Formats: sequence, C-alpha cells, structure tokens
Amino acid sequence: MVIRVEAPSGGYDVTIENGIKDVASLLCAGRAEKIAVITDDNVRALYYNDLESRLTNAGYSVYCCTLQHGEASKNGYNYLNILEFLAERAFSRKDAVVALGGGVVGDIAGFAAATYMRGIGFIQIPTTLLSMTDSSVGGKTAIDLHSGKNLAGAFWQPLSVIIDTQTLKTLPDTEIKNGLGELIKYAVIEGGEILEMLEDGLEKHTESIIAAAVDIKRKIVEADEKESGLRRILNFGHTPAHAAEKLSGYAMPHGFAVAAGVNIIMNASAASCGCPAKDAARIKKLCEKYGLPTELPYTPEQLQNEAVHDKKAGGAFVDLVIARRIGKVECVRTEIGNLSGFYSGNGGKL
Ligand code: NAD
Ligand code: GLY
Repeated sequence: MVIRVEAPSGGYDVTIENGIKDVASLLCAGRAEKIAVITDDNVRALYYNDLESRLTNAGYSVYCCTLQHGEASKNGYNYLNILEFLAERAFSRKDAVVALGGGVVGDIAGFAAATYMRGIGFIQIPTTLLSMTDSSVGGKTAIDLHSGKNLAGAFWQPLSVIIDTQTLKTLPDTEIKNGLGELIKYAVIEGGEILEMLEDGLEKHTESIIAAAVDIKRKIVEADEKESGLRRILNFGHTPAHAAEKLSGYAMPHGFAVAAGVNIIMNASAASCGCPAKDAARIKKLCEKYGLPTELPYTPEQLQNEAVHDKKAGGAFVDLVIARRIGKVECVRTEIGNLSGFYSGNGGKL
C-alpha cells in the first residue's frame, strides 16, 4: 500500500509492503546516477548486498558507507565523514543518499543529505519498527552533540520512503518493543482502529498498523511540518521519558521510557484533566500485553528536575502533552515546577 505525504516543502510516497522486489523503481531519485547507501554494520550484513545488486542492475553507481550500529554513531565526526565520502566520489546535487537501517542511520544520513551542497536527494529505507512508524516520515534529521541528543539537525523531507516489513523478521525483540512504545503513543493520540489492532496483536496486523501510524504522522506533518504547533502532540509521554533516559545515563531504551511516560501522563491526566480512568487502564493493559513498563524507577521530583534541561523546555516552562481522553490529546504550556505534582497522579494542577 502507498501513503502520499504532502508536506509543504515536498510530497512523497511511503510504500509499505511485505517483500519489496522492485526497490529501484520506488526510489524516485530523478536524474541521479550515483547512490550513496548509508547503513550500519548489522543491517549491511543482512540487507545491503541485495539492495546493491538491485540498484546496480537498474543502472546506478552504488557506494556504501557503513557506520557502527548504535546511537553513539549519530555524531558530528561521522556526519563530516559522510560529507567527505560524498565529496570524494564527486556526488552532485542530482545524485542521492539512501538511508538503509533504523532511526540512527536515517537521522544522520538525512542530515548529511540536507546539508551536502545545500541539499541533495534523500531516500529512506527503514528497517526497524520505530523507523518505519516514526523517524523515516516527517523530515526530521539530526545528530547528537556532547550536550544532548538531536541538538543539530534540519527539516529535510525524503523523496521516497520504502518500507519492507519482511526486514522486521530479523529485528531483535527489544527493538520491536522500542517501536511499540511509539506505536502506543499513536494509539493514545488517535484511538480507534490503530488501538484496536494493537490490542489484537502486532503480528496479525503488521502492515495495517504501520500504515495507520504513518497516516497519523502524515496528517500532523502536513498541517505543521516544522513543529510550530500541532506536531508537538507527537511528544506525548516524551517529557517524563526524556528525563528518565537522561537519569539512566541512556541505559533505558527510548521506547520503554516512552511507554512508561505515556502511562504516567495518562494517570496524571485521569487525576487532573478529566481523562476517564478506564482510558488510562486500557493503555496500561496494552503496555503489559507487550511487556513494556508502565512506571519509571524515578520520583516525580527527579523527573521534574531533569525537565529543566529538556531542549523542548523554554526557561521555566515546558510544553506538556496531556490527554483529555483516548483520541484527544493537547499541548499545555506549564511551569516546570508543576510537573512533579502532576506526575504524582494525586490531582496536581498544571
Ligand atoms: P537504531 O537505528 O539504533 O536500530 C536499532 C538496532 O537494530 C541497531 O543495532 C541496528 O543495527 C539494528 N537493526 C536495524 N534494522 C534491523 C533489522 N531489520 N534486523 C536486525 N537488526 C536491525 O534504532 P531505532 O530505534 O531505529 O532509531 C533510534 C533513533 O531514531 C534515535 O537516534 C532517535 O533519536 C531517532 N528518532 C528520530 C525521529 C525523527 O523523527 N527523525 C523520531 C524518533 C526517533
Ligand atoms: N518523532 C516526533 C516528530 O517527528 O515530530
């Protein structure tokens, strides 16, 4: 199935299939002669050879730049190396960069594509559940700085997103859970079918769940590409989650922190914002079904103190996303000092 995203700075197709054969025809790479595939060592071993032969057969000159897997690779050093890699092979503006892998590869390759010669074509081939449902769509690209995650980046929409769900067969269980944390966030934002399908089982409805998530993101990105308003709701559950990740020294996987953060906000919203308690209970049950945490090993005060350093906080205030009910979330600007009372779930006001 194909979902067309009409972002203000450029439209593109997101193709979702189980077993994509004709990947070259989906690239939409225009006049490109050269393709640079940016991947990581794990994904290269599994999927690069097949992609290379398909692209070579279609007439492209293909070059591969492989990073070590893991978040630590999303750094300035590797970013500059990718730019040099493109320059040494005389890539021009008509050529293109393909990200083959998870969100780490997608973010750094996208930022390189956004900035090399002030921007060249970029194609996403996501291979994790998280990158299929979140990071490959919407045009956010980034690298991490020593001071924090995603602190340098650009909005740069891809020319095409190609999702082959067969690649999920090799994805480790922890990474499936990572993606599920974000999917449960979408289920709260939208309610309805995506929630029901997740309750029924990811394996049973894989393509439809991914398509539903992409479609939710499509609607939000089309309305607010650069996150000046509506797009902030995609941070549902993320304010406590980011604090917990930082407090854990980034040992806590993002999707796990998001799942717990979603539950903290649902309980607090039930206590303070009129969200039905049965909605909070329904989301808790869903997280438990997939073995995701519903609590964080930190006090509300610790989470509040850490929120001061969140890049989305402005001075003494933070944009917090709360739930009125499943299917109705909203962004509220609130004093950081109110967070611990709110997170405690005892009816603390915002
Ligand atoms: P990841 O890219 O680190 O991939 C997770 C692990 O899975 C890696 O070890 C990778 O080698 C391996 N892997 C990938 N595909 C595989 C496959 N099919 N089979 C076996 N192993 C495979 O992690 P991620 O969760 O995909 O992405 C996390 C990153 O995404 C973070 O840097 C985060 O900041 C970013 N992100 C960006 C956005 C955005 O909008 N740009 C949104 C959410 C997250
Ligand atoms: N992952 C949040 C966003 O794309 O805005």
